[in-house]
Amino acid sequence: MPILQNSVRIVSNRRLAQDHYRLRLERPRSFPEIEAGQFVQLRLEEGWDPFLPRPLCLYEHSRLWMDVVYQVVGRGTAILSKKKAGASVGVLGPLGLGFPILLDGDTYVFVAGGVGIASLYLAAKELVRQVKGRARFILLFGLKSVGMLHCHQDFRELGFELRIATDDGSYGKKGYVTGLVEQLFEKEQLGRVWVYACGPRPMFLALTGILPRFGQDAYLSLDEHMACGVGVCLGCAVKTVRGNGDPYRLVCKEGPVFKMSEIDWESKK
Ligand SMILES: Cc1cc2nc3c(=O)[nH]c(=O)nc-3n(C[C@H](O)[C@H](O)[C@H](O)COP(=O)(O)OP(=O)(O)OC[C@H]3O[C@@H](n4cnc5c(N)ncnc54)[C@H](O)[C@@H]3O)c2cc1C
Ligand code: FES
Repeated sequence: MPILQNSVRIVSNRRLAQDHYRLRLERPRSFPEIEAGQFVQLRLEEGWDPFLPRPLCLYEHSRLWMDVVYQVVGRGTAILSKKKAGASVGVLGPLGLGFPILLDGDTYVFVAGGVGIASLYLAAKELVRQVKGRARFILLFGLKSVGMLHCHQDFRELGFELRIATDDGSYGKKGYVTGLVEQLFEKEQLGRVWVYACGPRPMFLALTGILPRFGQDAYLSLDEHMACGVGVCLGCAVKTVRGNGDPYRLVCKEGPVFKMSEIDWESKK
């Protein structure tokens, strides 16, 4: 069961790269166990403005603290980036159903688009803890430009092979991360593969055009606009291809992680 804590102290709020920050919060004693890929809803101010809390994935945690990594994209994240250690925010969480931890892979391919990397790290850490030495771990990371590079070293330290693409060619291969995905599956023998991915919608749409050619599915963490975060407002519904009854699923409660093959991508173009 998630808990709501109106005032959680900020331990630090550190800039990682252009427009990217890592926020460390004091972990409330009663905060439940966290699963890889779960998120929190952060209420940024005590008043009504901004009215809606902002969903952010939990990046890493200990008994005493929990971190989120976020990109400043609008008003809420800009307000958050100005907060200093000692200030506080409201926290509702942990929310959603995270990534399955599948232990029978020969190769684990993580595909991250921009700040999507933030939702993948806990799954990466847990998989490495459980299957290291028996499997290969690869991070394919795409971002706009080298100035936005962040979090990749954490994956390197876990033992991941890193392949990076930038839109402007300022680091790694020029182009989108999906080019790296295509190249990997075309050129290498990977055995049994599990793909974990998070990024913007165009990245997911491109993956739906690439992975099925190799008989490959993926677990995706979807990024939908959210209001309540707990399955009440129905604002985050996504259409699936499930045959029986209502095809809609709530990203906040039944996700954010879904199998790529479960989503009705035609309804999302
Ligand atoms: C389950 C979940 C986990 C997330 N985890 C992270 C994370 O770990 N780190 C991170 O940086 N971001 C994450 N996001 C996205 C993050 O919630 C939004 O970027 C944030 O709410 C934007 O708030 P804002 O007030 O700064 O922007 P706004 O002023 O509300 O919007 C600015 C721009 O961002 C777009 N936007 C707003 N919310 C979303 C959204 N949910 N998805 C896509 N576009 C959006 C708006 O359409 C607009 O173009 C997550 C989203 C979800 C649903
Ligand atoms: S955000 Fe309200 S139901 Fe999902």
